[in-house]
Amino acid sequence: MCSLDGLFANNRAWANQRVSEDPEYFTRLATLQAPKYLWIGCSDSRVPANEILGLAPGEVFVHRNVANLVVHSDLNCLSVLQYAVDVLKVEHVMVVGHYGCGGVQAVVERRLVGLVDNWLRHVADVAFKHMSRLDRHGDPVELGRRLVELNVVEQVSNVCRTTILRDAWKRGDKVEVHGLVYGLDDGLLRPLGISVDGRGQWEERHEASIQTLASMNENG
Ligand code: CO
Repeated sequence: MCSLDGLFANNRAWANQRVSEDPEYFTRLATLQAPKYLWIGCSDSRVPANEILGLAPGEVFVHRNVANLVVHSDLNCLSVLQYAVDVLKVEHVMVVGHYGCGGVQAVVERRLVGLVDNWLRHVADVAFKHMSRLDRHGDPVELGRRLVELNVVEQVSNVCRTTILRDAWKRGDKVEVHGLVYGLDDGLLRPLGISVDGRGQWEERHEASIQTLASMNENG
């Protein structure tokens, strides 16, 4: 008897279901993955990449960490990005934040959680950079939503500034970087008006999307 027995039973039922629908399902997947998308999202259990996108195994390459951060010295995230862009030749890199993100909210509320506070310093840096755009005395939930959006825009820029994307664009690879936010309460993905498809463009897109976000939020 194992405490994971329920999960093994689920897994067997899932595998049997796949094979009954398509006998070649696993033999085909075992020999090849050719995803078009890389998803960089939050570790939050309520934000599963494949399910939200309606994509099957093999269709999206995934990296997740607390608060969907792309840190220039994070070898884990950079390795995923490099493999996805250089080897798998994905066409789209999506940085996906989500409203109600516990990591972002901890920063907003200056709540200390432990070791992860060091990781969340990167979110605090985003808040500091955009201090003039954030109403620190307003509703903390609204403040959290704004910081989730700004954090995505900053992480998109971080992706664009890596040697990985700069080299890919120099080679003429067709790869776009997008910023999106997911709503836990409605299951919907929203584009943040930042999609970058070439070298040297990200600065303008970055500035434009910050302006767009500001006017979007002013107009409710
Ligand atoms: Co989160």
